[in-house]
Amino acid sequence: MKIQLNENYKQLQESYLFAGIAKKVSAYSQAHPDKKIIRLGIGDVTLPLTPTVIQALQKAVGEMAVQETFRGYPPEAGFDFARQAVVDYYGRRGTKLDLCEVFVSDGAKSDCANLTELFGDNPVLIPDPVYPVYLDSNLMCGRKVTFLQATQENGFLPMPEGLTGEGYLIYLCSPNNPTGAVYNKEQLTQWVDFARRSGSLILFDAAYEAFIHGDYPHSIYEIEGARECAIEICSLSKTAGFTGTRCSWTVVPVELTAGGMSLRDMWERRQATKFNGVPYIVQRAAQAALSPQGIRECQGLVDYYMENARSISALLDKKGIFYTGGQSSPYIWMRCTGNMDAWTFFDYLLENVQVVGTPGSGFGACGEGFFRLTSFGSHEATKEAIARLDSLL
Ligand code: MLT
Repeated sequence: MKIQLNENYKQLQESYLFAGIAKKVSAYSQAHPDKKIIRLGIGDVTLPLTPTVIQALQKAVGEMAVQETFRGYPPEAGFDFARQAVVDYYGRRGTKLDLCEVFVSDGAKSDCANLTELFGDNPVLIPDPVYPVYLDSNLMCGRKVTFLQATQENGFLPMPEGLTGEGYLIYLCSPNNPTGAVYNKEQLTQWVDFARRSGSLILFDAAYEAFIHGDYPHSIYEIEGARECAIEICSLSKTAGFTGTRCSWTVVPVELTAGGMSLRDMWERRQATKFNGVPYIVQRAAQAALSPQGIRECQGLVDYYMENARSISALLDKKGIFYTGGQSSPYIWMRCTGNMDAWTFFDYLLENVQVVGTPGSGFGACGEGFFRLTSFGSHEATKEAIARLDSLL
């Protein structure tokens, strides 16, 4: 072929982190069909959707079966009822949004990656370690990325001190995936002040906000001035068990403008051209999940998973192994034992006790020597994994 390809793809790792792990686990499973593998790797939920969500889905499916209530293409930005449900969810926490600023979508992953299209050649700041989509999607469009080192010394919460440039795209994820570290109000205020001073934009990933325990901001818009410098992405994947149902939202405040262009208008334009919206039945399910009763039921899911987090933490406490997370996050970020690097530790656990986790180095260079365990398993599987780890570590 004579076509030019996007050579930026050469900068990427051979496979996406979780796809690579799935391949490795599948190869092991084929070679050892008798071994029962426990998957605490990718943060995929295991509990079913809650009753309120199921009722809404069933009702919506019924509507699709009837001529008068059947729906075709959904609006690209979301039905007003779903956008309003997001506005109300924030409103109950004291954060005011306008309906036109909320864009319903099929996942935080796609929104995080697709948002890169709105920007020119800006310097990018990405925490290390962090959810790999921020880095990959910026590498795909050839941007220069600088890492914000998140280490044990800074509590895995890098701050803007020492940054002197302007016009950055700054990715923040709080509670952080994978470390579970959460920014408090003062720290986020420093980031917002820095972004405003330097003409930068924060892309705030709040996908794990439902797991926050204690007095931490759930949204960047709880910080004064954030509407002038931040986009927020959030999702029902972990909050309501929607990893397979697919629904998220992105908030783009009307205040966000640069060079005479409105980011809100650009995102609306982008979505209208490239996205055909989230299915009606899923948006009804999302509306139900975000209702007061829906959120109460979601809290039950969160509580269930956090019990796993406590059990895993108890094992690591007993063994004297350093870890963070598991307080305001479904992830436990532990140090690999025996001075092993992260992938060696991955193989060690898979081969000896058939427990799958995620090597910390997959989230960035600073994640080397660390390992992430998810608490999204069932109580039974998690208990079994803990017993196996107890026997090995
Ligand atoms: C994770 O395990 O980090 C997440 O499940 C990945 C995702 O949300 O796409």
